[in-house]
Amino acid sequence: MDYLQISLLVISFILLCSFFQNKNNLPTNFPLVGMLFALLKNIHKIHDWVVEILELSHLNFLFKGPWFTNMEILITVDPSNIHHIMSKNFSNYPKGPKFNEMLDVLGDGIFNVDFDLWKYHRSMAHSFIGHPKFREVLVEKIEEKIVKGLIPLLDHACKESLVIDFQGVFERFAFDNICNLIMGYDFEFLCVDWPSTPLSKALDDIEEVMFYRHVVPMNVWKFQRWLGVGKEKRYKIAWKKLDDFIYKCIAKKKQEYKDTQELGKNERVGLDLLTLYMDKTQGVNVKNCSDKFLRDTILNFFLAGRDTSSTALSWLFYLLSKNPHVLSKIREEVYSKNIRDLNECVYLHGALCESLRLYPPVVFEAKGPLKSEVLPSGHQVNPNMQIMFNLYAMARMKSIWGEDCYEFKPERWITEKGNIKHEPSYKFLAFNAGPRTCLGKDMAFILMKMVAATIVKDYNFQVVETHPVVPDISIILHMKYGLKVKICYIL
Ligand code: HEM
Repeated sequence: MDYLQISLLVISFILLCSFFQNKNNLPTNFPLVGMLFALLKNIHKIHDWVVEILELSHLNFLFKGPWFTNMEILITVDPSNIHHIMSKNFSNYPKGPKFNEMLDVLGDGIFNVDFDLWKYHRSMAHSFIGHPKFREVLVEKIEEKIVKGLIPLLDHACKESLVIDFQGVFERFAFDNICNLIMGYDFEFLCVDWPSTPLSKALDDIEEVMFYRHVVPMNVWKFQRWLGVGKEKRYKIAWKKLDDFIYKCIAKKKQEYKDTQELGKNERVGLDLLTLYMDKTQGVNVKNCSDKFLRDTILNFFLAGRDTSSTALSWLFYLLSKNPHVLSKIREEVYSKNIRDLNECVYLHGALCESLRLYPPVVFEAKGPLKSEVLPSGHQVNPNMQIMFNLYAMARMKSIWGEDCYEFKPERWITEKGNIKHEPSYKFLAFNAGPRTCLGKDMAFILMKMVAATIVKDYNFQVVETHPVVPDISIILHMKYGLKVKICYIL
């Protein structure tokens, strides 16, 4: 058979498959190829496709890959399943070796480990974030970044009538902030000069491949990795860039640490996570002291700190541009407030929760059971399967959030008495649920509120009309082309 015949055969097969569409509009499970064609056809709009499927299949759908891949994914947004997996039977759902391999770049960092090592990281992060001075230092650092980085940049854009990318601004803000907290260095990527940030691209590439590895059969992406082609090639390059940057920072910090020790100073060099790890692990455990271990720790916190809050802020401002009445209410609420103390801003809090509900920065969560069992929805799961929660789809299920689930309504989060309304984490999963709940939730809210209030108080903004705002296909719900806006002072 020559190439032409093979191509014709493949095309006819695809046409045949499309012709025999499942009558209920759900993907058909074809012999040999499973649901692969449906996936390929919809991959460019995967989040909205999953919404359709889950709505039609009442919150649970079993996706089957081609026979040779042994790929079965239960996609679920059923709150009772989520509660069961994340909390009630947590010990049956560790991250496990399959995910460790998919997320290999994260090494032994907190996102990618289980059991004792995970507990160790969690306790370190707790003692860092729970330090009595942490909140004060955090607010100080954010305020400094606002005054020295954000405001000069916005002023410059106003004076020069420039179009700026809000998503880029927020990413730089969050990255400078997290580096400062973790390593004690402010790289000042957020400034009028807008220096190039190769790391940013590297992190984006890594996150895209992480997504891809979740939806493509393992033997396929492993083969690509072995060949060193396509996305896997970019991944390798990005990995190297990140390593170069982080190892340099570690060497610098270690030298500073050594100098301080030699000078006989007993106090810590500063309130940063890297110093804390070096303090606590000194002479205790060679593995935990190694540069590789510190690199893994730092990288995990980079991802946790840079992308989540910046993505949340980008979608918040997009939604505000579409809902000027919400913007006016927030403006009214924050007008007379000091940006250091926005605790009482219930409406702003509600708007952020609502934006996180509709556009959750960590868009899905994947799990693999250790032992077979039946989930509360009645679905049988086993160790060969993956379970996936799609948070974007969850927000758009009428049976979970009501008929108005597509609408942006901060009021959803406010009680009749005017307080913040609590929603259980297995329904509002943006910060994860159960023992692995996000550790940075409070600090993220502080940062997001301070940044949002600063902009809303003094500036008007307008999304460039022709600019497409679409979610990226990645584990983080970035905007594919950023958020291009024109800004000016409020007169
Ligand atoms: C809007 C902002 C944020 C959102 C939506 C968010 C969301 C999440 C989610 C979904 C997870 C679970 C990830 C997984 O295990 O697959 C997580 C875990 C985590 N987050 Fe956040 N996060 C945010 C900000 C932050 C910040 C600023 C930090 C601080 C550095 C942080 C630190 C962590 C850590 C350390 C974990 C790991 C918890 C564990 O596995 O025990 N997060 N976050």
